[in-house]
Amino acid sequence: MTAPQPALADCVQPTEALLNPSTPRCDQTAQWPLLAAHFASTGRGFDVRQALSEDLSRFKRMGVQAPFIRADFSRNLLSASTQQLLLEMAQSCRLQDSIEALFTGAQLNTTEQRAAWHVLLRCPADYAAENGAMAEALQEMRASQAAFLAFAERVRHDDTVTDVVNIGIGGSDLGPAVVVQALEAYCSQGKRMHFVSNMDGDDLGLKLRQLDPDRTVFLLASKSFGTAETIVNAQVARAWMLAAHDFDCDPQQRALPEDVPEALRQLVARRFVAMTSNASAAQAFGVETIFPFADWVGGRFSLWSSIGLSIAIAIGAEQFQALLSGAHAMDLHFRHAPFERNLPVQLALLDIWYRNFFGFTSRCIAPYSHGLRRLPAYLQQLEMESNGKGSDWSGQPLSLPTAPVVWGEAGTNCQHAFFQLIHQGQQVIPVEFIVPHAKGLGTEEQHRALQANAVAQARALTQGKHSGAAHTHCPGNRPSTMMVIDRLDPASVGALIALYEHRTFVAGRLWGINSFDQWGVELGKNLAKDILNDADPARLQADGHQDVMAWLL
Ligand code: F6P
Repeated sequence: MTAPQPALADCVQPTEALLNPSTPRCDQTAQWPLLAAHFASTGRGFDVRQALSEDLSRFKRMGVQAPFIRADFSRNLLSASTQQLLLEMAQSCRLQDSIEALFTGAQLNTTEQRAAWHVLLRCPADYAAENGAMAEALQEMRASQAAFLAFAERVRHDDTVTDVVNIGIGGSDLGPAVVVQALEAYCSQGKRMHFVSNMDGDDLGLKLRQLDPDRTVFLLASKSFGTAETIVNAQVARAWMLAAHDFDCDPQQRALPEDVPEALRQLVARRFVAMTSNASAAQAFGVETIFPFADWVGGRFSLWSSIGLSIAIAIGAEQFQALLSGAHAMDLHFRHAPFERNLPVQLALLDIWYRNFFGFTSRCIAPYSHGLRRLPAYLQQLEMESNGKGSDWSGQPLSLPTAPVVWGEAGTNCQHAFFQLIHQGQQVIPVEFIVPHAKGLGTEEQHRALQANAVAQARALTQGKHSGAAHTHCPGNRPSTMMVIDRLDPASVGALIALYEHRTFVAGRLWGINSFDQWGVELGKNLAKDILNDADPARLQADGHQDVMAWLL
């Protein structure tokens, strides 16, 4: 499925006005009290079973088609009037202006004075820029893309390489890891792909046990090239490779030691490459092959940049382009579809309705797809790091709750774990089912059973069970959204991830949040450094405490 290419004039709009402080948050719009009144009168008591049986057009009316993905909203706790009010609220928030700001490179990341221009990474080769800044950004991006894709092809055809290890964390791990896992059926050339992220040395340590230092390539993925976990793991990996060639190197040392012989220096340069915005730090580490990317690529939006090198090695440059094209198709849909048929917008409006009116504190993601089993982990960073904020983008404290807790597990495994609570527990948790239409490797029967199970869960949540013994009762009227993705191929997966990126952005804009920073993460990082620096081994030993307990004192 291909979406129409926009006319050139549609691509770039002036952006200054978009950061106008008078742009209201959702709770500052005229529709907010109307929504509150609507919730109190009919919203709170909305009965989806009744709505489905009384309005036979509900299913058809509440379906939204986006590239590669169709969603059904009919099993949600909202009426046509709710939808109308939510749409008007989005218009009052000047959402279309914000969407233009995203696409045209406005500095939406106000606390770091940067654009959040990840959509540019997905622009096809013939996508024409309309202004100087975009032309420059596209040119740089294309050079970087061509270089890392060519490198990926070289690794794929290098028979001396059997294993590729991506060392990174957060956005420098989760996006690539989820996509490589989702597209395992497309992984060719027999390379084993590994992802190491954790500070816990067991993560890398257990992998190193399986690896041959002469046949392994390490991809150091870090936008900042300063993230503690990544740097420490990279140092340990480098020391391991040097040790295999009889050179002892302190794994605590950041820079490559001066006395490393030239041959080993070259080995490190051949076997370690970096994808980063901080080339000088990577060079000091001993890396020569560096694939840069612009600082307007946020960490959790970076899999489309050179951070996705592991994906390109796994599936090849051509399929990587297909991944980008799927995301680009979703970008066009997001930018041009009217809000009532705009899937990211509709999902975000539902988020506001459930979080701010019903007060639901979490949302469950249930991909009925083994390949998408880590999607919930990826979405946890995407949504909670982006929108788990306490002040709006102008610095005002927010008085309304923002991002819900996002969690989940692949179906049908989730049915045998926590679905009991979703059916009969006291709190209501909206569920998002994601089901591939086309089957993967299994039999037709397996695929039909998988799909039937997803539908059965959605129905069970809606209908409940009201006969028989009390302990078998299920209240029903529990909301869910069904999303059918065409197939687990690069284009569809690209579209799926772009969909969630845009939904997160829209919800963030309506809440008035800068979705592109993550200052809360810094506090713990800094405290960890202080704790390590202040550690007094003598005191710890004298007190006879384990380190953790002594530090807590
Ligand atoms: O968790 C904080 C964070 O800054 C994420 O936003 C980012 O994806 C991750 O750390 C890794 O950062 P880097 O790519 O700079 O190593």
